Amino acid sequence: MTASESAALRMGVIGAGFMGRQHIDLIRAAPGLSLAAVADPVVADGAFGTRTYDAAGRMLEHEHPHAVIIANPNALHVDTAIECLEAGAAVLLEKPVALDYAESLRLVGAVQRLDGRLLVGHHRRHHPAVARARAAVDSGALGQVVAVSGLWSARKEDAYFTEIPWHRLPGAGVTLLNVVHDLDLLRHLCGEVAEIQAMHSSHARALAVEDTVSLNLRFESGAVGSFLASDAGVSPWGWDQATEETAAFPFLPDGVAYRIVGTRAALSVPNLAKYAYEQGVPADWHSPLSRTYLPVSPRGSFQAQLDHFADVARGLADPLVSAQDAAHTLALVEASALAARTRRSVDVAQFRAEVEAGERP
Ligand SMILES: NC(=O)c1ccc[n+]([C@@H]2O[C@H](COP(=O)([O-])OP(=O)(O)OC[C@H]3O[C@@H](n4cnc5c(N)ncnc54)[C@H](O)[C@@H]3O)[C@@H](O)[C@H]2O)c1
Repeated sequence: MTASESAALRMGVIGAGFMGRQHIDLIRAAPGLSLAAVADPVVADGAFGTRTYDAAGRMLEHEHPHAVIIANPNALHVDTAIECLEAGAAVLLEKPVALDYAESLRLVGAVQRLDGRLLVGHHRRHHPAVARARAAVDSGALGQVVAVSGLWSARKEDAYFTEIPWHRLPGAGVTLLNVVHDLDLLRHLCGEVAEIQAMHSSHARALAVEDTVSLNLRFESGAVGSFLASDAGVSPWGWDQATEETAAFPFLPDGVAYRIVGTRAALSVPNLAKYAYEQGVPADWHSPLSRTYLPVSPRGSFQAQLDHFADVARGLADPLVSAQDAAHTLALVEASALAARTRRSVDVAQFRAEVEAGERP
């Protein structure tokens, strides 16, 4: 890439629905990036003030973008990403990376084979509070992490399911569409998950996909965790309510999505309230706890993700969320479905090994 090319990175967007439109707005607002074209079969040409193609392949052939953002339906993710990598474009692929772990391995293989540059859109990892929380965990400021709990619940509008058919079919569901972000962050903050138990419920919406889940986790570190989620239940609790990520979700200040409990201190995320015993008092439950807020500079995850993607596309950074990393998050989602179906604990590493060996259909 020449110096003048690196000054203006030409980006294509594939899939211009709810998420793709946000990416289009962000690209337009970002210095050093230009929107080369959009590919979406149902969008009229020129709708975004740029050329529009009805298929990704035609856009790649005519526009040769340096980089593409893929925000089409989940079932198309892997094939579209491989097509883009084969055309030499860097890829920001929306989550989930694939429909299941087996399929994601095809993409992991393609990234290796093509020496491709691919970032997966687990945008929360780019939030400044997440880097600060991870630093607190890694530095030992919380002591040994013994437990973590999390909650994401928000009542989606009924039209989300009635007007967009794939939202109510296998390949969607609250775990794959929403909890996948939380599981990715819990892995990022607390390390790999060794074992999972799960209860899934479709009671509230009576669809083919689950609307409410309860998960138990054992991390390889020895810490344990629990996570509750629902797309049918009203609540102020969850990442989307606790951050100003998108205008689509009203922001509630000082919100909490996760509580991390260590032997020296506790930390809630993303408000970064840290609870610890005051200096000079016995460090046990009879002593008063002080609350301080860890300092952090505000910055939207999606903007930070786009900046990082531009660096990945220019070869200046390795992806913060690689295909392999996202594949492990997806394996965890699938292991949770298996645990819910069989009503048994699932050993996550063994589950991945069985899929990799082709021993699971
Ligand atoms: N990171 C996040 O927080 C976040 C939030 C919402 C959605 N997503 C992800 O973004 C992706 C899109 O979700 P959405 O809510 O925008 O869905 P959506 O249904 O609103 O948009 C999908 C778009 O893809 C288009 N499309 C369908 N087939 C296509 C094809 N062959 N080529 C190109 N475009 C095609 C559709 O016409 C539609 O405009 C999903 O993978 C979803 O999981 C991520």
